[in-house]
Amino acid sequence: MSERKINVAIVGLGFGKEFIPIYQLHPDAQMYAICQRTKERLDAVGNQFGVARRYASFEDLIRDPDVDAVHINSPIHLHAPQSIAALRAGKHVACTVPAATSVEECREIVRAAQESGRNYMMMETAIYTREFLFVREMRDAGKLGRIQFMRGCHQQEMAGWPGYWEGLPPMHYATHAVSPCLALVKGEADHVSCFGSGRIADNLAARYGSPFAVESALFKVRGQNLAFEVTRSLFETARQYIESFDVYADKTSFEWARVEGENPILHAGEQPGRVQVPDYARLLPESIRRFTTKGVYDAEHAHLSFIQGGGHGGSHPHLVHEFVTSIAQKRASFPDVYQSVNWTCAGICAHESAIRGGEMVRLPEFAARETSA
Ligand SMILES: NC(=O)c1ccc[n+]([C@@H]2O[C@H](COP(=O)([O-])OP(=O)(O)OC[C@H]3O[C@@H](n4cnc5c(N)ncnc54)[C@H](O)[C@@H]3O)[C@@H](O)[C@H]2O)c1
Repeated sequence: MSERKINVAIVGLGFGKEFIPIYQLHPDAQMYAICQRTKERLDAVGNQFGVARRYASFEDLIRDPDVDAVHINSPIHLHAPQSIAALRAGKHVACTVPAATSVEECREIVRAAQESGRNYMMMETAIYTREFLFVREMRDAGKLGRIQFMRGCHQQEMAGWPGYWEGLPPMHYATHAVSPCLALVKGEADHVSCFGSGRIADNLAARYGSPFAVESALFKVRGQNLAFEVTRSLFETARQYIESFDVYADKTSFEWARVEGENPILHAGEQPGRVQVPDYARLLPESIRRFTTKGVYDAEHAHLSFIQGGGHGGSHPHLVHEFVTSIAQKRASFPDVYQSVNWTCAGICAHESAIRGGEMVRLPEFAARETSA
């Protein structure tokens, strides 16, 4: 462990606020500073949680030599520029999904991480849900057998969310559906063919030049005999919120429940059975275990994504723990920078394929090396 606690700063205090008390209670972290542009809200959050160091400017925050690490939760188009600036200022970076909005930004994140020697971790909730941890445990115990195919799905109605969501290409926010498939087989996406389907209203479509209601992609896993499918919708497609993955294997297959509140299904051969997925708080330091089942706020004040996502499967304290301990132990995080940008590029390239009528698009290779999970 490190000689002293890691000074963490949180940027963006909507979703970002959820993480403040977790860092405050993590044994290796010091919840050092918060940052967002509106002074009034900055002070309200600072007073509520007793965080004294406050910045209304991101540029000032990363100039503070006492900040060791930043956790970025700003709007999507700021993720990459802020991550790159923070890495170049010598900070470790955790950034909410997606890592970036273009392949070039992904390249720049990798370059900044390599040149600074600092950790970069995309804070992907989907690979720290109790469902993912359960299936990963089955994989490691040999209970799945040989994995044959995977499927990820994320359908969510984003009307009424902050303006930058309006008309966003569905695959530009695909990491929740892509990452469980790739993390489970310790792989990276190699190439993709994606179809856009349906139409959204003209005023929404005009925002990003993206007309499709649904985008559905088939990805090939690099160097493995495996493919996986991902489906995404963000507007004008009737369905309860779902953020799911299924895995088909020769001994046991896992299917996410179709409706919130139901248990997932395990298929042994042709025999199905519902399974109660356990909680994995036991993997965490005692002081932050409670956050796998409870949000930071009462139900009335919880962030909308937390309510819709069923608390993101208890993932928040696991993410904090992984980010902080990876720095303290001077090792790469899971996901590391290469996995983070591959999972992000998967969606960016899928959208490009959809715009080109389903043409196959090859993902860039950022590093030739083994992936961990
Ligand atoms: N499951 C998940 O992983 C999950 C869930 C919800 C949101 N998110 C991600 O979190 C991000 C934030 O979501 P949100 O709903 O809180 O968004 P939001 O737009 O409501 O809030 C963004 C926050 O960033 C701050 N901000 C904006 N520009 C800034 C700047 N230049 N410098 C510093 N702070 C700045 C704003 O003041 C605000 O506090 C989204 O981009 C989304 O990708 C991820």
